[in-house]
Amino acid sequence: MDKGRSNGEGRPAGGPAHEPPDKVLVTGASGFIGGWLARTLHERGYPVRALYRRPVPPVPLEALGRAGVELLRLDLTDPEAPGEAVRGVSTVIHAAALVGDWGSAALFRKLNYQVIVDLLEATKQAGCRSFVFIGSIAVHGFGPHRNSSEEGPYYPHVNAYQVSKKMAEDYVLSKNSGSFRTTVIRPGNVYGPGDTTMFYRLLAAQKWWVKGTIGGGHSLTCPVYVSDLVEAVILALESEQSAGLVFNITGGEWITWKELLEFSASLLQVKPFLSLPFPPARLLGAVLPFVYRIFGIKADPPLSRYRVDHLANDFHFSIDRARKILGYEPRVDWREGLRRTAEAYLRETKGNSPEDTRPSDCC
Ligand SMILES: NC(=O)c1ccc[n+]([C@@H]2O[C@H](COP(=O)([O-])OP(=O)(O)OC[C@H]3O[C@@H](n4cnc5c(N)ncnc54)[C@H](OP(=O)(O)O)[C@@H]3O)[C@@H](O)[C@H]2O)c1
Repeated sequence: MDKGRSNGEGRPAGGPAHEPPDKVLVTGASGFIGGWLARTLHERGYPVRALYRRPVPPVPLEALGRAGVELLRLDLTDPEAPGEAVRGVSTVIHAAALVGDWGSAALFRKLNYQVIVDLLEATKQAGCRSFVFIGSIAVHGFGPHRNSSEEGPYYPHVNAYQVSKKMAEDYVLSKNSGSFRTTVIRPGNVYGPGDTTMFYRLLAAQKWWVKGTIGGGHSLTCPVYVSDLVEAVILALESEQSAGLVFNITGGEWITWKELLEFSASLLQVKPFLSLPFPPARLLGAVLPFVYRIFGIKADPPLSRYRVDHLANDFHFSIDRARKILGYEPRVDWREGLRRTAEAYLRETKGNSPEDTRPSDCC
């Protein structure tokens, strides 16, 4: 259920609390989170520049362009791109990244760290005032997390994505100053219509291949519905108190993978039956990436150490800091959020098998 909001997809339109003097740049606007951010900011009256990289913007972004959002196509690894991206904006929300569990360390470093170094240099030269970076809660590493806070604990990183996101957030925070506010938002597992990275794949797997979980699914997880995350980002954008701080953002609920997967299976009208014990899952998670690498398979393997560790450990975080400092309060509970996500997934795939599905155009 939506907790206290009329439409559940964000504050009603009507403009920001105070008039922003300049445009907000949203990078990654062709992606899941950036797309939602660009649309919500626009609905609230912010002038938005929405950055994408692919040859043609996805349909919802194109529609935003027709509605008055400035669309800009740039590859942020191009030397001139950061300067061009930030020209005339006062605030940057950086959501562009290479997101995933598969790829070379050099590529993750280039896209998730070097791009930020260059972008921050450009913001300095352009005289921007604030920078909100979409980091990831994955930087905490996998260990027993129950109500872990931004202070920790932290566990070793097992893939290049985690390493690159931590390097990036440290760099972003190091640039906070009296005249330039930087903030890091670390989302948990984000889900909602238009998902590109995790939940649609999870739903596809449940519908077509893997009707189950690993190790019984008794570990806690940390979903956050996308409009709640967007709300947190906008609160950080609008609050001077967010300067130099990291905020972990989840739905704040105590929920296990088993509960989540059983409910999503019921929404898809499939029955979960399999629970792979941890020892063989760990073995597969170690062997499969190795095999894929040897044979040069481009797709990511279905199991990796990262994925198994993610399911093997409690992964629950406190949102007290965001509540206290930003006034963040999640509105969409996980059952309602998952219902909306599954409905959108089924609508977009039209009941076809994954081979027939197209990359999501919904944001
Ligand atoms: N989804 C989650 O559950 C989750 C959880 C925690 C943190 N996050 C973080 O949230 C952020 C957004 O994630 P997402 O799920 O929205 O990912 P996404 O859908 O894969 O979007 C990634 C975006 O980055 C853009 N991009 C990548 N490389 C670029 C480059 N060199 N130049 C310009 N744009 C580039 C892509 O542009 P094109 O598509 O146009 O190429 C796309 O718009 C990321 O920082 C991610 O680490 C996500």
